[in-house]
Amino acid sequence: MPSCETQTMLGQARRYFTQMAELFGSDLILTEPDVLSRLNGSGDPQALSAFCESIRTCRKCHLAKSRTRFVFGTGNPRARLMLVGEAPGEEEDLRGEPFVGKAGQLLDKILGAIGFSRDEVFIANILKCRPPKNRDPEQEEIQTCLPHLEKQIALIQPDIIVALGRIAAQTLLGSTDPLTELRSRVHRYAERPLLVTYHPAALLRNPEWKRPTWEDVQKLRKLYDELVGDKPG
Ligand code: URA
Ligand code: URA
Repeated sequence: MPSCETQTMLGQARRYFTQMAELFGSDLILTEPDVLSRLNGSGDPQALSAFCESIRTCRKCHLAKSRTRFVFGTGNPRARLMLVGEAPGEEEDLRGEPFVGKAGQLLDKILGAIGFSRDEVFIANILKCRPPKNRDPEQEEIQTCLPHLEKQIALIQPDIIVALGRIAAQTLLGSTDPLTELRSRVHRYAERPLLVTYHPAALLRNPEWKRPTWEDVQKLRKLYDELVGDKPG
């Protein structure tokens, strides 16, 4: 199924439940009491879906020739938390969804550990298409693709952004500082906080980075609760 359609369906399901909750009140959402507070971000689901349709056949760079699927990103179009990785890998390229391979499974666990599920956040990458053999993205590819992500962020309007790994962090911050240095501070990106942590694929290769990652995501949860809390939509 094309990724835009999947995306639209998720968005529709969420709008449906929001509407039902508005009609029938909290009775309906007793099993997940804070689901509503997580659904009332400022994102524009229709515009996001239309944007996805408009770029999914993108041929602006040579990666279009080798990709299987364009990987727009998935999750809640009204997410208050957005995560940005590097580029699709093999499984992502086949499924048209970000972070569905081994690194993605680890990411799901990390998110779960701080009380987030995959479909209440939005997950995207710097590059929408897989670089052959998972090589690092080239600067030209990054600069060509970046407007897609910038537009996506403008439509989702997350309250917090998390950059996963060096490529995402350096790209979004326009920095050449090493990841360890970027991790140590809360940055700003388009007037919202941006946090940096290790890429889950890096954690699979270097398990000793799991502990600092745990510290990073605790910081993230705290900042999220402070910023988003019970804030009305
Ligand atoms: N690594 C990434 O950076 N993004 C994905 O979608 C998968 C693996
Ligand atoms: N280098 C990277 O590219 N990512 C990490 O997460 C850590 C080091």
